Amino acid sequence: MRYDIITIFPSFFDSFKNESLLKKAQDKKLIRINVHNLRDWTADKHKTVDDKPYGGGAGMLLKIEPLVKAIRAFCKSPAHKASATKGKKSRVILLTPSGKQFTQKKAVQFAKKYDQLIFICGRYEGFDARIKKYIDEEVSLGPYVLNGGEVAAMAIVEATARLLRGVIGNVKSLKEESYATEKNLEYPQYTRPEIFEGHKVSSVLLTGDHKKIAEWRKKHVKKSK
Ligand code: ADE
Repeated sequence: MRYDIITIFPSFFDSFKNESLLKKAQDKKLIRINVHNLRDWTADKHKTVDDKPYGGGAGMLLKIEPLVKAIRAFCKSPAHKASATKGKKSRVILLTPSGKQFTQKKAVQFAKKYDQLIFICGRYEGFDARIKKYIDEEVSLGPYVLNGGEVAAMAIVEATARLLRGVIGNVKSLKEESYATEKNLEYPQYTRPEIFEGHKVSSVLLTGDHKKIAEWRKKHVKKSK
């Protein structure tokens, strides 16, 4: 999977890219995370990415030209418009609080269907609405407003990358986890010490009896909210 992230704050992604599992996945060439500065697609000497809205109103909007130039530069398909990538394996995603909410189901879909995800991180008060003609879908991280799409892009990269073969060492844990997520199930887990400030781990979990442990877990499953 190749990720292309278009942002005006590329350095936000420095440690995100260079730590832990995502770093290993890049070293193993299972994924590529390319972060692009939107200012690189401006034509003026001040590298202007925003402007005032027509008709007036508070705040500034991200301009259409640099956004479209950036999409065209990274979309693997030689399409004139990003929307012409339909049926191909690239997906152009606009991150916005008014988009469809990102879920685990969506993460699985992205991971299975595409080999390139392009994210446009909005900022300021928003963007020129014509951008919607050049993207494949609008996605929101959740029903709240962030300062921009960067945190949403990170969440989607992480949630999808860990579903790709080889990214997570322990495949069994991924299987168990997705089963639990799909069925909306969670059971409590514990590690050492056996007693912490008087709180004891159930003795069943210490028996090594897999059948009994499975029964205990089934009984203690809690529906996640
Ligand atoms: N930009 C601002 N808020 C957002 C959200 N909730 N999801 C995605 N992008 C955003």
